[in-house]
Amino acid sequence: MVVFGVPKESLPGEHRVALNPDSVAQLIKTGAKVRVERGAGTAAHFPDEAYTGAGAELADQVWDADVVLKVAVPTAAEAARLRSGAVLVSFLWAAQNRELVEQLRTQGVTAVGLEAVPRITRAQSMDALSSMSSIAGYKAVLMGADHLGKYLPMLMTAAGTIPPAKVLILGAGVAGLQAIATARRLGAVVEAFDVRPAVKEQVESLGAKFVEVDLLPDDTETKGGYAKELSDENKNRQREALHARIKVADLVITTALIPGKPAPLLITEAMVADMAPGSVIVDLAAEQGGNCALTQPGKTVTAHHVRILGPLNVPSTMPLHASLLYARNLMALLKLLYKDGTLQFDFADEIVLNATVTHAGDYVSPTVKSLLGTA
Ligand code: NAI
Repeated sequence: MVVFGVPKESLPGEHRVALNPDSVAQLIKTGAKVRVERGAGTAAHFPDEAYTGAGAELADQVWDADVVLKVAVPTAAEAARLRSGAVLVSFLWAAQNRELVEQLRTQGVTAVGLEAVPRITRAQSMDALSSMSSIAGYKAVLMGADHLGKYLPMLMTAAGTIPPAKVLILGAGVAGLQAIATARRLGAVVEAFDVRPAVKEQVESLGAKFVEVDLLPDDTETKGGYAKELSDENKNRQREALHARIKVADLVITTALIPGKPAPLLITEAMVADMAPGSVIVDLAAEQGGNCALTQPGKTVTAHHVRILGPLNVPSTMPLHASLLYARNLMALLKLLYKDGTLQFDFADEIVLNATVTHAGDYVSPTVKSLLGTA
């Protein structure tokens, strides 16, 4: 019988949990045993009793389980408690946590990274990056609205008409598109920009205007559909075009990221100085250094009468749905790794191959190996 363990997340401010009670019940139905660390779901609003009601056992620690399911990257001390031959499924971000994955490899742990699941159609139900980005995009609009001294929608009141707020979204990937949809639902007038030309149609279908930037013909996109760093000339052209739009925006939400690189600088201090007093910037790229020159990761600062938010781990601020969606992504991935009550790693399956960072003392995932330079 396979024993699954769900630890309580230890990272300060981490409120998510890897499995919700419904997912626990599904695992128990397969004949597995599930041990949940006492209090693991409390911050996500899943009390211990909900887990025992679903058939889980409560435990003081669960690191000796056959399969440990986690959200945030474990600490070295936590990882050291995993048995040789055990399976860990978690966000791992191997390139940023080289020492940890090397430790997992030498310990003989099979480590599966949710961020390494390839973004192919068959893996959509396992795409935790998209689930979490979507929450971040939604929440960024609410955070911004909360700091804005204005209404977002147009209002006709007895005291006169209030025009709708202008929201600008920079970077229209998963988070940016959800931010557009949320700001539109709240009645704002929305504009958006992304370097990937394919995004224009998606932006427009959500009722936002696409900001046209006259970029020189340049390779702005990788084969995998991710953005590339722009040439210096194109960076200048982008900043010039965006400056005019930033100047008139009440709320700017930035989400631009380039895989494996620091976040691109899109908003300079001069642009902030040109914004109207009371405007707000929510920089979702804060974790990767930020898209605004004045962003301080983890802090809210005011400069030139503009409030600049650099929130970290935004999905954790909406822990109930973040945990629920993460658990569903995890369960979809487990369907490939745990069949007929046994653990199986079929590396002929490209999802299993790419998501498995370490197995039996070796690095496995070709994507991760090339990131680590061990290919
Ligand atoms: P991301 O979080 O890496 O980046 C966010 C956005 O910033 C991207 O849209 C990127 O083009 C944009 N960006 C980068 N540099 C910029 C700049 N200088 N100015 C403005 N914008 C800039 O991206 P995310 O959200 O993870 O999505 C990346 C791609 O993956 C998209 O093409 C998306 O459609 C695709 N995808 C595919 C899935 C599937 O087929 N299963 C699932 C999810 C995403």
